[in-house]
Amino acid sequence: MATPDVSSIDDVTFREGLEGLTPARIATLYRRAPLLRPVSDLDQVWTMFEQSSLVLTAHYRGELVGIARVLTDGVLNSYLCDLAVAPDVQRLGVGRALINQVLEHCAGTELVLRDSDISSGFYERLGFARVDNAWVIQASEV
Ligand SMILES: CC(C)(COP(=O)(O)OP(=O)(O)OC[C@H]1O[C@@H](n2cnc3c(N)ncnc32)[C@H](O)[C@@H]1OP(=O)(O)O)[C@@H](O)C(=O)NCCC(=O)NCCS
Repeated sequence: MATPDVSSIDDVTFREGLEGLTPARIATLYRRAPLLRPVSDLDQVWTMFEQSSLVLTAHYRGELVGIARVLTDGVLNSYLCDLAVAPDVQRLGVGRALINQVLEHCAGTELVLRDSDISSGFYERLGFARVDNAWVIQASEV
């Protein structure tokens, strides 16, 4: 589904929390952005959101067009799990507005994220610094 006639960020409204969200709406945005997430399992999608510290969304005429999802301890560490903006709403400042709201909520902490080839220029533009001391492993029962 395309989002018609969005020409300015002034047409976009922002919300905090899960109100008005459904896993299906979230999965549709993930698919469109695109952002690789477990969209075939809507229960998993909803658990990801219920267990998050902060969910910020952007809307245009009732349609979900942007999401930022964060885990934070509120003191030291914050992790930006998802940032996605619908293709027809990209480059209007929605991603920047969501990040600015995240930074406000997580003030005092260090915000970390994983980028992709298509988004690294965006984070650089917003003043993020690349780090080379991150390590990652897939957690599983031992
Ligand atoms: C990356 C993404 C969130 C950016 O959102 P957006 O709303 O289009 O970004 P904004 O309009 O707020 O852009 C802010 C600035 O970054 C620039 N920018 C945006 N995307 C960019 C990109 N991919 N590369 C370089 N610069 C970019 C904009 O031109 C703007 O520059 P300005 O300061 O001159 O105005 C969006 O393109 C997206 O959802 N992509 C697909 C999913 C994805 O990759 N998510 C991130 C996963 S880590």
